[in-house]
Amino acid sequence: MKILITGSKGQLGLELTKQLEKEKKYEIIATDRDELNIIDINSVNEFLLNNKPDVVINCAAHTAVDLCETDVENAYKINAVGPRNLAIVCEKIGAKLVQVSTDYVFDGNGTRPYREDDTTCPNSIYGTSKLMGENFVREFCSRYFVVRTAWLYGEGNNFVRTMLKLAETNNELNVVNDQFGSPTSTVDLAKAIIDLMNTEHYGVYHGTCEGQCSWYDFAKKIFEIKNIDIKVNPVTSEEFKRPAPRPAYSVLDNFMLKLVGLNSFRTWEKSLEEYLDKE
Ligand SMILES: NC(=O)c1ccc[n+]([C@@H]2O[C@H](COP(=O)([O-])OP(=O)(O)OC[C@H]3O[C@@H](n4cnc5c(N)ncnc54)[C@H](OP(=O)(O)O)[C@@H]3O)[C@@H](O)[C@H]2O)c1
Repeated sequence: MKILITGSKGQLGLELTKQLEKEKKYEIIATDRDELNIIDINSVNEFLLNNKPDVVINCAAHTAVDLCETDVENAYKINAVGPRNLAIVCEKIGAKLVQVSTDYVFDGNGTRPYREDDTTCPNSIYGTSKLMGENFVREFCSRYFVVRTAWLYGEGNNFVRTMLKLAETNNELNVVNDQFGSPTSTVDLAKAIIDLMNTEHYGVYHGTCEGQCSWYDFAKKIFEIKNIDIKVNPVTSEEFKRPAPRPAYSVLDNFMLKLVGLNSFRTWEKSLEEYLDKE
């Protein structure tokens, strides 16, 4: 089976490439912006027609949430036009398309974990552009999996590494305690995507580690596991203003994965322990 990964040098792309390479049954074409820029329909057309992958996993995205608020055109080009281009050409060659999306498609005013059929209402450019990408994929490709994830960490810049770095030079940190989500390891997400792409269970999925916490709880757990003695102060989003609004509650229920019997996500604490063992 031939698998094309876009954005393969990002956190998820690296982990997917690693897991797929372990299983000898896949031929992997790992690309990033230089080899295949997904915003260019001509490049996408040529690359996919030449290589004829059976599955395309789109890990390319503009993930700098705050920057998206001002870098609006690029946000829409990468997060919406890119997946649209892939969807159009995947349909042409009969390939399956996995589009990775985000909890930021919800407004965060919910009071129970969001299911796949809950009403979307993004409140940032990042969220709006990612939702547009989801919709294009659903519109133009018949064999699609849209997988929404959240609070992702793996090989690359992420919250866990930021906390560890800050702890090297600070005795005290302020961390937001009124936004709730599910920290998710790229290891768990990559496994779920590989399991899904081997099926014909097309549709929209939520894929996050089990359980929930605030960023403050997340930070406290990181320092507890690493035995780092540092004072962590809980603060509100109001006290820690960012350019892009964040959903206050963006816990996702892996409802569809449970329905098709493919929910293999571990608890966020368990996956974090494994990750920090190697850090
Ligand atoms: N990170 C999170 O917390 C989080 C949360 C929820 C959902 N997600 C979603 O999960 C997916 C994977 O995220 P991630 O954290 O692995 O992202 P990431 O580390 O930021 O990686 C994204 C990759 O895409 C590449 N890229 C950007 N524009 C491109 C283009 N036009 N053509 C080809 N490649 C391009 C980037 O290259 P450059 O470095 O050169 O830009 C980078 O290598 C994304 O769809 C993201 O929206 C992430």
